[in-house]
Amino acid sequence: MKKFLSVLTIGFILLNAAACNNEGESVEGPEEINVGVAIYQYDDNFMTLYRGEIERYFDELSNEEVEYKVTVTDGKNDQAEQAAQIDNFITQGMDVMIINLVQTTSASTIIDKCEESGIPCIFINREPSESDMTSVGAEYAGKMTYVGADARQSGRYQGEIIADLDDKGDLNGDGKLNYVMVVGDPENVDAKYRTQYSIEQYIETSGLEVNKLVEERGDWKQERGNEIVANALAQYGEEIEVVFCNNDGMALGAKQAIDAAGRIVGEDIYLVGVDALDEVVDLVEKGEMTGTVLNDHIGQSNKAVDMAIDALNGEKLDTYYWIDYVKVTK
Ligand code: GAL
Repeated sequence: MKKFLSVLTIGFILLNAAACNNEGESVEGPEEINVGVAIYQYDDNFMTLYRGEIERYFDELSNEEVEYKVTVTDGKNDQAEQAAQIDNFITQGMDVMIINLVQTTSASTIIDKCEESGIPCIFINREPSESDMTSVGAEYAGKMTYVGADARQSGRYQGEIIADLDDKGDLNGDGKLNYVMVVGDPENVDAKYRTQYSIEQYIETSGLEVNKLVEERGDWKQERGNEIVANALAQYGEEIEVVFCNNDGMALGAKQAIDAAGRIVGEDIYLVGVDALDEVVDLVEKGEMTGTVLNDHIGQSNKAVDMAIDALNGEKLDTYYWIDYVKVTK
């Protein structure tokens, strides 16, 4: 019996020795959770803030028990490239994935991959169609979700910002709003809805008519916003009363074109964007931009991360989680 006890004691000491270093601290370390984050394109002002916050928040949530190891990939605006990155995540055995699709029209192929792998998946920023979101089997449905903001709301807010001005944006007082629309990427619902709902809401709130002078895609980019608005100003000059941009990146480009043409925002032209980038909020404060709409990248990224963790903990996710936009004016 004595011999048996001493064998047990030695066994116990050996076990302990394996789990402790010289200072007697545990060396097992935290459980490692691998997270794959696929971003549609790094070259995007808003998504750069968004992905930075995903990484920061996972870092904040890492502790002695769990360590989140986050791998982020740049889809370079190429759906085939992103699909390969997601295949890699699956072969690497990621515990959870956060996906910002390049093309929402390719969502079904990606969703099939995710379902087959069984890895929980949180879609962000680029909303797949409802039929794609609800196409998966009951078991996987609780492991997949979309976290985003309702782009219709951002469009409506843009329309209201202009309609609520003293002159309703109708600088020449002819009862009609002459406008330029700088579109993000027409394949994307954010761009579609902002383009559509800004104008619909403007008409409803102001009771005036509208006259579209230019509508052109700028792919969310500052330089394209600049080009489009510079050309529009060269062609239509003082006729232009309002420039609507689907995002702030392009609105910053538009602002440069407006400055270069010697026009003054708030006096002889109005300009509105979406995202509330710091630079734009500064301009709004100074009265150099009419307004913007906060696209809450902190709220959205934190919710996406929280849902990823819930899914890892075996909780059943809803199909959608929505974060509100907020109107930003002086
Ligand atoms: C929008 C955002 C744009 C751009 C786009 C990318 O929500 O307003 O600036 O980042 O997402 O999908």
